[in-house]
Amino acid sequence: MISKVVFQSAVLAASISFITAASASPQAKISNAKPEAIVIPSAVRGPVPVVQTVSAEINNVAVNSNTSAITSNVTTPAAVVAATTVKSTVLILARDTASSYSGYSGLNGYAIPYQVVVVPQAGVTLPNLNSSATSGNYGAIVILSEVSYDYGGTLGFQSALTSAQLATLYQYQNTFGVRMVRLDVFPSADSGTTALGDCCGDGVEQLLSISDTTKFPTSGLKTGAGVSTQGLYHYPATITNSSIATEFIQFAPAAGFSTTSTAGVINNIGGRQQMVFFIGFATDWSATSNLLQHAWIHWATRGLYTGFRRVNLNTQVDDMFLESDIYSPNGTTFQITPADLAQHVTWMATVNAKLNAGSNYFVEVGHNGNGNIEVIDFDWIGYSKNTHVTLGFHCWHLECGSGPIEYGDQIDTPLEFQKPLGTGTNLWPANALLYPYTTVCTNLDALKIWWATPANRDVFAHVSHTFTHEDENNATYYDVTREISWNAAWLSQVGIASASKFSPKGIIPPAITGLHNGDALRAWKDNGIVNVVGDNTRPALLNTQNEHWPLITTVTANGYDGIQITPRWATNIYYNCNLPDCTVLEWINTSAGKGDWYALLAVEKNTNTRHLLGLHHDPFMFHQANLNYQTASETVINGVSTKYSMLQAWVETVVQEMIRVVNWPIISLKHDDVSNLRLPLHGHILTPRPQIATAFASRMARDACGASLAFNVDPTAQTITGVTLTTTGNTCSTTIPVTVPGAVTSTQGFRTEQIGSDPLTIWVQMSGLPVTFTLSTPISL
Ligand SMILES: *[C@@H]1O[C@H](CO)[C@@H](O)[C@H](O)[C@H]1NC(C)=O
Ligand SMILES: *[C@@H]1O[C@H](CO)[C@@H](O)[C@H](O)[C@H]1NC(C)=O
Ligand SMILES: *[C@@H]1O[C@H](CO)[C@@H](O)[C@H](O)[C@H]1NC(C)=O
Ligand SMILES: *[C@@H]1O[C@H](CO)[C@@H](O)[C@H](O)[C@H]1NC(C)=O
Ligand SMILES: *[C@@H]1O[C@H](CO)[C@@H](O)[C@H](O)[C@H]1NC(C)=O
Ligand SMILES: *[C@@H]1O[C@H](CO)[C@@H](O)[C@H](O)[C@H]1NC(C)=O
Ligand SMILES: *[C@@H]1O[C@H](CO)[C@@H](O)[C@H](O)[C@H]1NC(C)=O
Repeated sequence: MISKVVFQSAVLAASISFITAASASPQAKISNAKPEAIVIPSAVRGPVPVVQTVSAEINNVAVNSNTSAITSNVTTPAAVVAATTVKSTVLILARDTASSYSGYSGLNGYAIPYQVVVVPQAGVTLPNLNSSATSGNYGAIVILSEVSYDYGGTLGFQSALTSAQLATLYQYQNTFGVRMVRLDVFPSADSGTTALGDCCGDGVEQLLSISDTTKFPTSGLKTGAGVSTQGLYHYPATITNSSIATEFIQFAPAAGFSTTSTAGVINNIGGRQQMVFFIGFATDWSATSNLLQHAWIHWATRGLYTGFRRVNLNTQVDDMFLESDIYSPNGTTFQITPADLAQHVTWMATVNAKLNAGSNYFVEVGHNGNGNIEVIDFDWIGYSKNTHVTLGFHCWHLECGSGPIEYGDQIDTPLEFQKPLGTGTNLWPANALLYPYTTVCTNLDALKIWWATPANRDVFAHVSHTFTHEDENNATYYDVTREISWNAAWLSQVGIASASKFSPKGIIPPAITGLHNGDALRAWKDNGIVNVVGDNTRPALLNTQNEHWPLITTVTANGYDGIQITPRWATNIYYNCNLPDCTVLEWINTSAGKGDWYALLAVEKNTNTRHLLGLHHDPFMFHQANLNYQTASETVINGVSTKYSMLQAWVETVVQEMIRVVNWPIISLKHDDVSNLRLPLHGHILTPRPQIATAFASRMARDACGASLAFNVDPTAQTITGVTLTTTGNTCSTTIPVTVPGAVTSTQGFRTEQIGSDPLTIWVQMSGLPVTFTLSTPISL
């Protein structure tokens, strides 16, 4: 009993000395977290070749252009649909593989089947568009930049598709009821338009907005929201033939263009339908292109596809309970307080209140339990120095075992160092066997008390970030086993493992280390960890076949098979910063950043809305220091000045932009769910949810099933009446999504999902036969 009283009074005394004790600390803390967050994400794909513009006089307007107008003089046959079945695969015609990305990346985000055909300057043979007079092979056709090349002289830019090939494509469209999309086209009479000029020079902005979504209502795009066209060369136009052209996107006035102008039209030319964009696409860097792609995807598919659209916003906060050495001012440290965290609880509710219907945003936290014990260690040092050492020592020894785990600074290995199995030196003490700490011990930390309170805890999601944050590249099996098992024991003891959103099968690896250390991976697996997050700035941690797939470790590359690495984005909010001045300085010093906090947020807005609009589900990396609210200043976002932590300012910047341009729900998933496909509970669940593998892994699994959708066409009524889904062998280990623009006559007992203003998605479990759905309202062709 007496030890308990002394113990508690010691806490008070020691809490006063904590700050000074911390800065004088000889302990390693998280100094080994260096590589995280420094590098700007780089595309894995090759760069798109630049096609130089040539100047020309077109329709009496002097312009510079590197695309062509639609080839004129192509005979368009009458539109009489004769098809009975049309595969939904999208045919993409592009100049080269690199630029074809702007045609397929959005489809890949949905997992809509597509096929790229590269058309070189010398031309190409078209694939077989139909396999019989009534059976079509492609559900839509996309042409980038008219696949045009500069043939020189008076020819200038011309399509590498011959007039005869275009006539074949048009004939196919009309016989099979298929729509065509033409990206980056010069306006001309063939699209019912004429060009007003070309735009824009470097640094000149001309905003673009969607002016009419009535022909693609399932896109969920908002009209009238201006988005940047900087770096996207374009040709403002006017409509000269309104009998064939309807505007759907518009340019705002800009230097040289005093009025609004047309940015794209939907043509109906004798029944043949095409959507034409007078602007280039660059989905690899432009948020605007990633937004606009949903217009053509929904128009071309008529909102009827095998595939799925979801925005998952997952903000992971690493290093909870650790203290971070701050980049600037150099020599300072920062640790989050309950007051900072409490404000984030309030704030999350305000975010959810402003998000679109069906949304559910929450922050996920990666915990390091040793930080909880370290607080007590400082208390103990302070106490033992000043009072009865013997009694104090005895007391702490009982409640906190041998104290926190401490070791000297670790030497950084090369980033992708592959440890020879069985090598390395144990840093953990040889006597560190069973988790030794008592609840009395963990309760000495106000931060722990806050997190253990269910009303706080259950607002967030939680995952392990390992016990001490030991660098795992060169770590031993002995150490890593303890890093996982002690943190698991701590998470259980403090109650975080009982949170409503906890991920027991995952970790955030410390500084994303250990991923080529077979001993570490084996220790993870032996302790129930099967999925971790990676770092998208490191190509070795990305799946090179498909950016929507996770990387599964192999013995060759990683030293151990079968651990799933889910991709994760870095941001320019650095792990070792608690205030904007710090992260701006680090951005400038390490990542070629230019400008102030607002310039940084503008970069974050473009980069990360691009990822979300590209339907990437990768979580985003943050750290505990980024949640500093108490000493934060106000940030102005969309004209409103509010006191925000850096995480809050980042999230507000990104989600306010998202809800400005789309009406989709934004949904957070916890760590295991990003990996494990467990969809949120909002959907209509008609059948018990199947046991499915991971969201990333099941995406990879279902892509391997070769899903193919066919439109069932009634040639008499000229309508699509339904769809038939097939997969290889008509089996699949996971469910396949079929999205429809309205309702179907029967969902056949499959699980369905329809959140907020989303269209209906049916998750089909294949069982040996094709599955057909009949649309409640047929779609007119
Ligand atoms: C066309 O030229 C413009 C202006 O130079 C450039 O910005 C754009 O990237 C070029 N397009 C392609 C596909 O190279
Ligand atoms: C249109 O096609 C016809 C027949 O192929 C040809 O004689 C004529 O010159 C073409 N006109 C243009 C403007 O290309
Ligand atoms: C494709 O459809 C056209 C009619 O548009 C028909 O003439 C042609 O024979 C069909 N091709 C095949 C391979 O059946
Ligand atoms: C509009 O386009 C249609 C179809 O190409 C054409 O028949 C008609 O003459 C055009 N009208 C004008 C005013 O150019
Ligand atoms: C930060 O301080 C440490 C020692 O306190 C020193 O070694 C380091 O050079 C300083 N860094 C900068 C950028 O001033
Ligand atoms: C890994 O650890 C071993 C043993 O402690 C050491 O000899 C080696 O230099 C370390 N390798 C790296 C790359 O740090
Ligand atoms: C950042 O760069 C500035 C200017 O080059 C330099 O003075 C400063 O020491 C750097 N700060 C840190 C923390 O490295």
